[in-house]
Amino acid sequence: MLLLTNISQLLTLRGSNSARRGRELDDVGLIEDAAVLCAGGRIVVAGKQREILRHPWIKKHKRKIKEIDCANKTVLPGFVDSHTHLVFAAPRLIDFEKRIAGASYQEISAAGGGIRSSVEGVRKASEAKLADGALKVLDQMLASGTTTVEAKSGYGLNLDAEMKSLRAIRRAAKQWPGAVVPTLLGAHVVPAEFKDKRDDYVRLVCEKMVPEAAKKQLAQFVDIFCEENAFSVEETEEVFAAAEKHGLKTRAHVGQFTACPLESLLNFGPASFDHLDNLLEADLPKLALSNTVATLVPGANYFLGHSRFPDARKLISAGVAVALATDFNPGTSPTSNMQFILSLACTHMKMSPVEAICAATINGAHALLMGDRKGSIEPGKDADMAIFDVNDYREIAYWFGGNNCEMTIANGNVVTG
Ligand code: NIG
Ligand code: FE
Repeated sequence: MLLLTNISQLLTLRGSNSARRGRELDDVGLIEDAAVLCAGGRIVVAGKQREILRHPWIKKHKRKIKEIDCANKTVLPGFVDSHTHLVFAAPRLIDFEKRIAGASYQEISAAGGGIRSSVEGVRKASEAKLADGALKVLDQMLASGTTTVEAKSGYGLNLDAEMKSLRAIRRAAKQWPGAVVPTLLGAHVVPAEFKDKRDDYVRLVCEKMVPEAAKKQLAQFVDIFCEENAFSVEETEEVFAAAEKHGLKTRAHVGQFTACPLESLLNFGPASFDHLDNLLEADLPKLALSNTVATLVPGANYFLGHSRFPDARKLISAGVAVALATDFNPGTSPTSNMQFILSLACTHMKMSPVEAICAATINGAHALLMGDRKGSIEPGKDADMAIFDVNDYREIAYWFGGNNCEMTIANGNVVTG
């Protein structure tokens, strides 16, 4: 049992059975002078300290309770990073320098760089080595306050290497105290050897990778990069249909560089559409009416040196449920730190700190269909929390480039600090 006391600001994010939209994003469920009691890895109660200290459990289990004095710091739910590409062998430094010299992401990709240049390394690497790399990043994430992470394959691009990537995710997850949600991204790009037979590759994804990932329970979601030079809307429909057939949930990268029509994809009820830098006007109300979360990943815009960022204000005003994630990956967003993403959301997308925190916690949880367990500090939910060494929660989005997370708690256990 764990009792957190002397919390100056507790952000509970309480009261959302579904992802927050519009003005619902303006409330972090702030309680001042608060305490939180946890038992068996779950939250028992959270509220004003003077009330919590009178809770009957505290008297009854006095000896079993470990108290953490939060010394007037700020406590919030652990971040839910709902979009990451954790499994790869090496950073992509050549692409980095080419971009600095003026080439664009798409030009580099068309010339054989980009995603394709990570494939050989993953195919050659052992599962253990890939797992080590993933675990190293997961640990950095934990240290910066993230307790739930979605992790995609997507740099193997054949059956063996995609399954190896998913097994590496599972292996890393077993050694990590937070929660990891695995996603098959076999349809990231068409690999070089299928250049002239893309239909065969889509068939491989649908008929081999998806069934195998489902059968071995290696993935919960199937993702696809729906974009010019990656996969078309029709191909995305095929991959979504295969996922549905095998009982896996769907999500997709859409609108990163060009907009595409979303209606036929929305019919599959994807948990999330990610990036959405570009969106057809007609799709905005359709997205707003759906339960699909728009996961914005401004780290990619930052790292590619774009001056344009996703139009978070437009999405929020239209009533779209918005989440924030790192998109940690070697090509477009090599950051593991959600605090930096909050900073970008505020400075470049004009989200308020409150909106950004909602998007990075409870809405991230809903983007992973885990809103009933993660993303808020409420009785019965998993006791995943981050203690920040700041007096005012807005500072979490204000200081940038560092790490003000002092302690992370996952399933009621102190895991850093
Ligand atoms: O989310 N856009 C597709 N996937 C990644 C980039 C992957 C890469 O370049 O390695 C993204 O930005
Ligand atoms: Fe991505």
